[in-house]
Amino acid sequence: MIQVKHILGIETSCDETASAVLRNDFRILSNVVLSQDEIHAPYGGIVPELASRQHLRSINFIVRESLSRAGLELDEIDAYAVTQGPGLIGSLLVGLSFAKGLAYYFQKPLVGIDHLQAHIEGAFLEQRDIPFPSLALVVSGGHTSTFLMKKKLKYELIGRTRDDAAGETLDKIAKFLDLGYPGGPVIEKLAAKGNPQSFPFALPRMTDRSFDLSFSGLKTAALKQIKENHISRDNPQLFDFLASFEKAIVRALLDNMARIITRFKPKALILCGGVARNRRLRTQFSKLAEEQCLPSFIPSPKLCTDNAAMVASLALERLKRQKKISLTLDLDAYPRF
Ligand code: KG4
Ligand code: ZN
Repeated sequence: MIQVKHILGIETSCDETASAVLRNDFRILSNVVLSQDEIHAPYGGIVPELASRQHLRSINFIVRESLSRAGLELDEIDAYAVTQGPGLIGSLLVGLSFAKGLAYYFQKPLVGIDHLQAHIEGAFLEQRDIPFPSLALVVSGGHTSTFLMKKKLKYELIGRTRDDAAGETLDKIAKFLDLGYPGGPVIEKLAAKGNPQSFPFALPRMTDRSFDLSFSGLKTAALKQIKENHISRDNPQLFDFLASFEKAIVRALLDNMARIITRFKPKALILCGGVARNRRLRTQFSKLAEEQCLPSFIPSPKLCTDNAAMVASLALERLKRQKKISLTLDLDAYPRF
């Protein structure tokens, strides 16, 4: 059996080029993330072709930087981890091909990792003994999904958004109001100055009693409010509107989560993904957990948004459970869950 002392993870599923090095005991030796926000900001959203081209330009430097911050050379890396999907296919292929090249040259194992499972792993990075079964809510720019984990590395999809993801909804409204990209952090900052009770938003509900979510209704309601009330960057009502909108997104997520808790009776709750950086969501999620007498686990903000430490950590968990280590490079990128 191969002894993995150090593992290097690579993440390029979306618009962050990231590389991290972890030690065998899951200690993060380096976690380097290069955001492409400035490149996509003028377009108000990610331009896939620009994203993959930028990953190509950055990946070599970012991997080198993660090694140098960890104080290691490439030949001291015993295994590689890379995000296989879901994500932008061109972006995923940059990370996957780079990782394959390294694994092939050094004849080390390469572990393909699912991006949503990696986000959940972000919580385990800081708290290794989360009780099972646990419910994990992944809220990012591309995904809003709830998973039941009966044990470590077992993920059962309970529900997901049928249209836009929560982060995507925030990004789209920010784009419409010309507030900048990514929308989530800008909305959070401006919403802090407003009154969340000012604008009414109806909670989205699935008619079929499933645990899926939908954000397109909230987006349409927000656009209607913007038009009817002439909300704009320069209108003082902007803060109240954004506070109410942010509150509506959080309520939609947590109302659904409360139903899922009642049905599945977990022993712990996990919140992760880029939108989990949002303070209102973090506070309300912890409050919901307290009301349900459950412990809650939310990664620290830098482990919520895309990073490669979560990717390396999940791969390390998997390698530790494998009796035989394979050197196969037969991994394909996949764009959708
Ligand atoms: O997980 P992530 O980095 O990338 C994806 O996998 O999509 O999430 C990015 C999303 C974006 O939609 C961004 O607007 C949102 O996370 N986000 C936030 C905050 N920080 C990032 N949303 C609300 N509040 C924040 N503070
Ligand atoms: Zn993500």
